[in-house]
Amino acid sequence: MTTTLALRASILHFSANPQYHPDALHWHTDGLLLVNEGKIVAAGDYTQLQAQIPAGVEVQHLPDRIIMPGFIDSHVHYPQTDMIASPAPGLLPWLEQYTFPTERQFEDGEHASEVARFFLDQLSACGTTTAMVYSTVHQESVDAFFTESAARNMRMVTGKVLMDRHCPEFLRDTAESGAQDTETLIQRWHGNGRQLYAITPRFAPTSTTQQLGLAGELAQQYHDTFIQTHVAENKEECAWARSLFPNARSYLDIYDQFGLMRERAMYAHCIWLDDTDRARLAETGSAISLCPTSNLFLGSGLFDFDAADAAKVQLSVATDVGGGTSFSMLQTMNELYKVARMGGRYLPASQMFYLATLGGAKAMQLDHLIGNFSVGKEADFIVLNPKATPLLARRSAHLNSLEEQLFVLAMLGDDRVVERTYIAGELRSPL
Ligand code: GUN
Ligand code: ZN
Repeated sequence: MTTTLALRASILHFSANPQYHPDALHWHTDGLLLVNEGKIVAAGDYTQLQAQIPAGVEVQHLPDRIIMPGFIDSHVHYPQTDMIASPAPGLLPWLEQYTFPTERQFEDGEHASEVARFFLDQLSACGTTTAMVYSTVHQESVDAFFTESAARNMRMVTGKVLMDRHCPEFLRDTAESGAQDTETLIQRWHGNGRQLYAITPRFAPTSTTQQLGLAGELAQQYHDTFIQTHVAENKEECAWARSLFPNARSYLDIYDQFGLMRERAMYAHCIWLDDTDRARLAETGSAISLCPTSNLFLGSGLFDFDAADAAKVQLSVATDVGGGTSFSMLQTMNELYKVARMGGRYLPASQMFYLATLGGAKAMQLDHLIGNFSVGKEADFIVLNPKATPLLARRSAHLNSLEEQLFVLAMLGDDRVVERTYIAGELRSPL
């Protein structure tokens, strides 16, 4: 469908990482965003761009609102939507008590579709327009998810979980069946509209060497697919992984040995790494998914920002629901900031908004398509109301800088701040 949109409001986006490029934050107090056929036509100052507004197109004026690119959540489990906020003493008991029984239900395609719809509605309401998503071990769970995300024309990444040991029988595939299903799903969905496939070994402890080997072969054969897994999240999990793969130099090295480190590989958590691991992530173009709400909730640990920066690893931010406790990337920034503080680091709000938009796109190697308002990019964007709640309105009356404005949004904001979400130029939320 052809759409021509002109929106007048403040505009925020990034052209690079503001940590290293101070001019990379672009702010237009009185801005104009022009969209045609789902793509960005122009973004900049209203006064400079108003001559480009096509005849017959009415400008939607949104005073005191901020337009920015949609958020990118680089690691989240849609099947865990119904078990968010489940109490357990740490990762491994939480997986046993809640996660595995919940994921069992996704053998039923109808159930999977219903949860996928709710999940995608939540993401849209929170302003998240792209996510790298875990499905379950069942093919049906991937078909259901992609059917729903394709119907909404959302740029989404997911994959069938590979898991052939150390889990209940009802969630187990085999090395061969897992690889076969993965290949079928890649052929069915990867590059189908805006849908992209991720080869998804759950984590090393639940895969045999044979399964990881076949996953590595698929990753090489289908080089433009994604890879996603968990690594070095929790101390008990690390010890378990090391005991199962005694020949590996480190937990991360298990994946490296099977050819699972490359561009478009997303490693969630990465708390208990060493410098050699971080260097390998950077060398191979693999990226880290920071999951602050999940890591605090499950008591997994605090991410080391300084070490990651020293190694020049690509970072992205993620909710990791259901280990994470919110679908909101603003709430996730709130906890990211505090995790950084606990490590002696100060994370400016501009850095957090970068990580949640263009940084995520770069980590996923999708920055040629999404992440900012460069001309020709896909028009996934959100409209924020910085005074959406009484407290936000009150606090916003005392702002000294744009950085403070963004910081207040990150600390006090959530889905209530997200007034509209557009997917490829079409209004998705509210409908
Ligand atoms: N490690 C293996 N599976 C999972 C999962 O579902 N959530 C989290 N947070 N960690 C994991
Ligand atoms: Zn996870």
